[in-house]
Amino acid sequence: MPTAETDNGYLYQQVVKRIRNLRDANSLRPGERLPSLRRLAAQLGISVPTVKQAYDELERLGWVEVRPQSGYYLKAPLASSGRPRRPDLSAVPVPVRQQRLIEKVQQAITQPGLVPLGISNPASAFANPQTFSRLLRRVTTITGGQALGYGPMHGLAPLRHQLAHRYGEMATVTTGDQLIITNGAQEALTLALMCVARPGDVVAVESPTYFGLIELIESLGMMACEIPACPDGGVWLADLRQALDNQPIRACIFASSINNPLGSLMPDATRRALVELVESRGVALIEDDVYGDLHFSPQRATPAQAWSKRGLVLTCSSFSKTAASGLRIGWLLPGRFEAEAKRLKSALSGPTPLLNQWAVHELLVSGDYDRNLKRLRAELAANKERMVAAVQQYFPATTRHSDPGGGCVLWLELAERQDSGRLFELALAAGISIAPGPIFSASGRYRHCLRLSFGLPWSERVEAAVARLGQLISSP
Ligand SMILES: Cc1ncc(COP(=O)(O)O)c(C=O)c1O
Repeated sequence: MPTAETDNGYLYQQVVKRIRNLRDANSLRPGERLPSLRRLAAQLGISVPTVKQAYDELERLGWVEVRPQSGYYLKAPLASSGRPRRPDLSAVPVPVRQQRLIEKVQQAITQPGLVPLGISNPASAFANPQTFSRLLRRVTTITGGQALGYGPMHGLAPLRHQLAHRYGEMATVTTGDQLIITNGAQEALTLALMCVARPGDVVAVESPTYFGLIELIESLGMMACEIPACPDGGVWLADLRQALDNQPIRACIFASSINNPLGSLMPDATRRALVELVESRGVALIEDDVYGDLHFSPQRATPAQAWSKRGLVLTCSSFSKTAASGLRIGWLLPGRFEAEAKRLKSALSGPTPLLNQWAVHELLVSGDYDRNLKRLRAELAANKERMVAAVQQYFPATTRHSDPGGGCVLWLELAERQDSGRLFELALAAGISIAPGPIFSASGRYRHCLRLSFGLPWSERVEAAVARLGQLISSP
C-alpha cells in the first residue's frame, strides 16, 4: 500500500501522534473506544486505509487493542514495575487452616454500602432486575405450578441438553444425561472433590487460587500442595510435574481457563499438556471454569474436558459470573465418576431449585444470555483498562499488577513491607472493600498482595476509591 508523505512526516504517523495527544490530554481514556476508521478519516479528510495503518501501528505499540465487530480501544500503559513475581514455593503438602480468616473477610466485604472492590460478582452488578422479573413471570406462566416443585434429581432435562449442546460447540463431547445441575459451581466442586479424594489426601492447587477452593479442601480434611500460577498463563507445568514426581497427589483442582485472583488466561496448548500430564499419572483434574465465558480475546478457551482420554477430568462451572449469582445454577461434567457424583448429589442436597433452572433455560434459548454476555465482556474489558490505569495513577510506582485475559479481577503485588491485612482494615473504615492476599493461599502467603475487582459499573465513586487506597498505601 503506498504511504502518503507530507511535510510533517507520513500521514499515518500524524494520526498516531494525534491519538497520543488525546491520550496525554485525558480526552481519550483507557477502556474507551477510538473513533471509527470511517469517522476519523472523514474528520481529517484522509483515506480510511491511512487511518487503519495508524491504528495498526498503535496496536503494534501496545496502545490499543482490536475487539472484533466492535472497534479499537485504548489500553492502559504497561506498568514499568512489571508483573507480580513468581512465588517461591516448596511444594510440600500443608494442612489448611485458613477458614477463620476467609470467613472474617467474606463477612466484612459483603456489608452493604461499601465500594465493593473486594467482591467478584460481575453479572449481578451489571444485571437489569426487570429482565429477571419478566423472565421469572414468563417461566411461572409457561410451567404453571410445576416449576415450584422439586424437579428431577440431577437437573432439568432441557437445560442439561442445552448445556451439552454448548459444550459440543466447544469441541467437548458430553450428553445432557451425564451432566448434573448443581447449586452453583461451589457444589459442583464439592461433589467433584469428594468423588476423587478422601480426608487426608493431597490435592494440588494453584497459588494464588480462589479462596473457596481453600475452604473446601480444609473442610474436607484434605492437604493442599501449592503449585505456582503464572500471572500471564496459568499453572507452571514444570512445577506440577515435579510435585507429581515427589508428592502423593490424588487430584488437581485448577482454574482451567481464567484464574481467580490473577485473571490470567491459560493458553489451549498448556491446558492440553496439563490434561496429558495428569492423566498419564492417573491423577484426576477438577477444572473450575466459572470465568471461561468472560474472555477478552475473540475466542473462548477450549475446556480441559475436550482433551480427556481417560475420563479423569471433571468440569465445574456455573452461571454465577455470567447471568446472576443469586440463581445458584451451576453444573458438573463428572467424567468417569458419573455414578458416584450422582449418588452424592442425591445424598447431600437433592434437586437444584427448578424455577431457577427454567429461568436459565429460557435465558439460553431466547438468545438473551449470549447477547448479555457480549455486552458484559465488553464492559469488563473496558473496566480492566480503567482499573489498570487507575492503579498506575494512584498506587506507588513499585506496584506490580497482573494483566487479566478475562474475568473481573486484578492481582496486585505491593512492596514487601506492605500488609494487605492492615490495608483491608483501613479500607473498610474508609467504606471500601478489598480482598487481602493471604486468603488466596492455602499457607497464608501473599501478605503484601491484594485483589481488586473491576466487575462493577465504573464511576467517579469507584475511581475515588482506588485513589483513596493509593493514599492509604502511601501513608506511613
Ligand atoms: C474461581 C471461582 N470458582 C468458583 C466460584 C463459586 O461459584 P458459584 O457462585 O457458582 O458457587 C467462584 C465464585 O466466586 C469463583 O470465583
